[in-house]
Amino acid sequence: MIEHSPPPSYLLPNSTDESGMQPPPDLRQLIVGDRLQDPLLVLGVEYRDSARGGFTTLTFGNCHGRIPSAPFWAEDQPRIAGIVRGDVVDVVGEVGQYNGKRQLKVSSIRVLPRGSIDWRRLLPSAGDVAPYWDRLDRWRGEILRPRLRRTIDLFYTDPDFRRRYEECPASIGGHHAELGGLLRHTCEVAAIGRAIAKVSRADQELVLAGALLHDIGKLEAYRWQGAFEMTECGALLGHVSLGMLMLDRRVARESPSPCTDRELTILHHLIASHHGKPEFGAPVPPMTLEAEVLHFADNASAKTASMAEVLADPDNFAGESLVSAKSLWQIDRRRAFRGGSDWGADGGGG
Ligand SMILES: [Fe+2]
Ligand SMILES: [Fe+2]
Repeated sequence: MIEHSPPPSYLLPNSTDESGMQPPPDLRQLIVGDRLQDPLLVLGVEYRDSARGGFTTLTFGNCHGRIPSAPFWAEDQPRIAGIVRGDVVDVVGEVGQYNGKRQLKVSSIRVLPRGSIDWRRLLPSAGDVAPYWDRLDRWRGEILRPRLRRTIDLFYTDPDFRRRYEECPASIGGHHAELGGLLRHTCEVAAIGRAIAKVSRADQELVLAGALLHDIGKLEAYRWQGAFEMTECGALLGHVSLGMLMLDRRVARESPSPCTDRELTILHHLIASHHGKPEFGAPVPPMTLEAEVLHFADNASAKTASMAEVLADPDNFAGESLVSAKSLWQIDRRRAFRGGSDWGADGGGG
């Protein structure tokens, strides 16, 4: 078994950085009246028209979450001229509220030089990557058939691949949109896929191989040095096609080939079909039992992560309301309910 590399420093969001700056404020926990002065990442710049005239809102983020600005009206536009998504800005402001939603009333905003602030302050993170590697490497060690193992190891014993894989987000704004998110998602897909494979008597090693390979295209589809963004080839080809290309190119570099042509096609099919349907980006639907299992495991990881994320975001709920204020795009325009019960755990008979 190979050693995992130590987690990159910026995957540890709560450690004090070299500059000695205070830990970044938790943007999700700020309440009306709280004041803030801290470097933030500009995640969005949106211009809209209204009866009162046009206005711009910025969305700010850091490693703990995000918060929108109050509107910058026409007279405020010079203060934000030239600010674009991906800029790092020093912001002074106070949390206010409009229509039950928090917004940051900005009194001062200044663009900082790129690279002047540690990314670990600015980007959400999956945290320590070591436990994910431990699990995935242990499961990978259980792949006994040599051609399958050799093919998977082309990627998973490559230090450069591992370094990029443990940094990459799993999406740029949806599920697991965090540094290390792709690794966390892969671990979930592998865990869920192994469990379904056992019950459905699918080939567990092949399902695991599919989990490990299905999203490798995201390494080329996304950029994460700053606001998470799609790369040019990500936009033109998508991570499914890119993953198939990456597998193809990597195997082609080996002589002799680590697997047969049929075996390579079976792996290509796992990548190609993992989104299930053409309307969700799959060029073909799953046609093998393992591809079917992988598709459901991928979907289960993505959907449950999205539900957990919307439930954890107080901005989705007005005041003390338990039902989300509106339907949420992250969970396919459903509403979310954050109520619960202790089910009698405190000894009460109910
Ligand atoms: Fe995918
Ligand atoms: Fe995935």
